[in-house]
Amino acid sequence: MNPLTRWSRIAALPAVAVGLLAAHPAPRPARPAAAAPLSARTRANLDQAMHGEALAYARYMLDAEVARRAGDPALARLFQDTARVERLEHFAEEARLAGLVGDNRKNLRDAIQGESYEAGTMYPGFARQARAAGDTAAAKLFTEISRDEARHSAAFAAALRKLKP
Ligand SMILES: [Fe+2]
Ligand SMILES: [Fe+2]
Repeated sequence: MNPLTRWSRIAALPAVAVGLLAAHPAPRPARPAAAAPLSARTRANLDQAMHGEALAYARYMLDAEVARRAGDPALARLFQDTARVERLEHFAEEARLAGLVGDNRKNLRDAIQGESYEAGTMYPGFARQARAAGDTAAAKLFTEISRDEARHSAAFAAALRKLKP
């Protein structure tokens, strides 16, 4: 996946909708509404925050595995419970505010774009740079992953073609 490109495309409410909302102010919702108009600075901060939360989730899940293997289930639970908050609360709320996730068609299109970029541009470039720097294990890993990403892209494209209108 390529969250970078996806997260940079954040929907804004059309001007008409903004006008309607201003004319008929609704009570303040308990949670922020999806796709609310946001300043460029806030959008950039949201992008950065979502990257941090997603990375923390992934990292803490790996840390939990280490703790479990080391025979420390309490520490494993601490990492896992914290990871859940990062993903299910922090990331999810930020993604909602950013309008990151849409309907199946939008999500598949975004996914195809991200996977294709990774498969065709990002990982091959990383592999070339790693090879040039003599980092052969990294070059091999980037190349293998780029093939996986191509398969992901193809699978999403097939799903998009099958999607009911
Ligand atoms: Fe992928
Ligand atoms: Fe967090």
